[in-house]
Amino acid sequence: MPESSTLNEIIQKYGGDREALVEILRDVSQVAGYVTPENIATIAQRLGLPQSQVHSVASFYSLVNLKPRGKHVIRFCQDAPCHVAGGREIWKTLEQTLGIPFGATTPDGTWTLLTTSCIGACSVGPVMMVDDEIYGNLTPEKVQEIIAQYRAGGGA
Ligand code: FES
Repeated sequence: MPESSTLNEIIQKYGGDREALVEILRDVSQVAGYVTPENIATIAQRLGLPQSQVHSVASFYSLVNLKPRGKHVIRFCQDAPCHVAGGREIWKTLEQTLGIPFGATTPDGTWTLLTTSCIGACSVGPVMMVDDEIYGNLTPEKVQEIIAQYRAGGGA
């Protein structure tokens, strides 16, 4: 987050309360896209907490990003019901189509590929989310079509 004033505002919004650490980290992540090491140092100092503690809390929560994310974030469900419905094929297709492994972002900053646990759409597994949109009954062909649509600027 380049503007420390924004970070200060977020910390102040929660009254500098260390009990609000998770909310502060989540807000910073939402506003700035991700939380930098400098942000962690500032938050730790302002809340009177060790940096290691702030970092470990930030690492634990999936709503807190510690790395820049791509323009579109794919979250692929890796839980068992989706896996047995053909998730393995989809996993490979996603990595091959985007040319990156899970956990990575494409060099052009367009795509980030992540896993998620069950999102409650098991009946139409395998399932993935692209940003806030859920796609089910995935096949390798369908995955390629969806990605092509986004690449063409069509989005969901
Ligand atoms: S296991 Fe994939 S949505 Fe539930």
